[in-house]
Amino acid sequence: MQEYLNKIDKDRLPEHIAVIMDGNGRWAKAHGKPRVFGHKNGVKSVREISEAAAELGVGYLTLYAFSTENWSRPALEVSALMGLLVETIRSEVSTLNKNNIRLKAIGDLSKLPKRSQNALLEGIAQTDKNTGMTLILALNYSSRWEITTTIKKIAEESKDGLIDPSDVDEAFISRRLATAEFPDPELLIRTSGEQRISNYLLWQIAYSELYFTDVFWPDFRKVHLYKALVNYQGRERRFGKTSEQL
Ligand code: FPP
Repeated sequence: MQEYLNKIDKDRLPEHIAVIMDGNGRWAKAHGKPRVFGHKNGVKSVREISEAAAELGVGYLTLYAFSTENWSRPALEVSALMGLLVETIRSEVSTLNKNNIRLKAIGDLSKLPKRSQNALLEGIAQTDKNTGMTLILALNYSSRWEITTTIKKIAEESKDGLIDPSDVDEAFISRRLATAEFPDPELLIRTSGEQRISNYLLWQIAYSELYFTDVFWPDFRKVHLYKALVNYQGRERRFGKTSEQL
């Protein structure tokens, strides 16, 4: 692990890392256990990766914890995930404070069970003063929901005569997205071997480096994050320019 850590250039870390935590169900199946067992072990990875990112000095970490599509899972699994969320936030607030981590959330939170909403809002309020890393949970989130909501907002502003079409540029749109207060992620990691974006931060990852690993989320440890960062730092980010222009 130290070998990878030594290779990381602390001056060239991504400011924002986004993660699609995938493979909990398959990990559980491989251990002959129910899917919820995978999610419970996934929480250990959430803890470890949040700590590792904060220790390194990453500014923002966004985790895809529940997508708008996840409601179609068996009711028992959905309620277990919601329960896990409440339990985890309540039990982790003191650790978040100890590590100076600020909790935030993106997504249509109004559709979450009241208990989950309350735990989330409490966690956000209790960590609001922290100045280290921002940990953003994407909950009942999907990009198409976010973009649709944003377009509705802009249409309302236009109808009310508050804006002119000439006001609309990329920054104008970014300021109205759920992620308005966060920079775009430079790195997106997806675990479990799937190579899809699954309706996640579509606007924000326009220039992100994508990193896919076969490791299932419950097995994802600090060393895997370090490997992803070494790989990221080995890439040339050109933003449409040629190598010579950089
Ligand atoms: C994907 O694995 C994982 C999820 C849909 C949920 C992620 C949730 C957690 C790690 C726990 C709760 C999180 C927090 C922040 C407290 P999958 O079930 O789709 O796996 P599969 O593709 O193998 O079926």
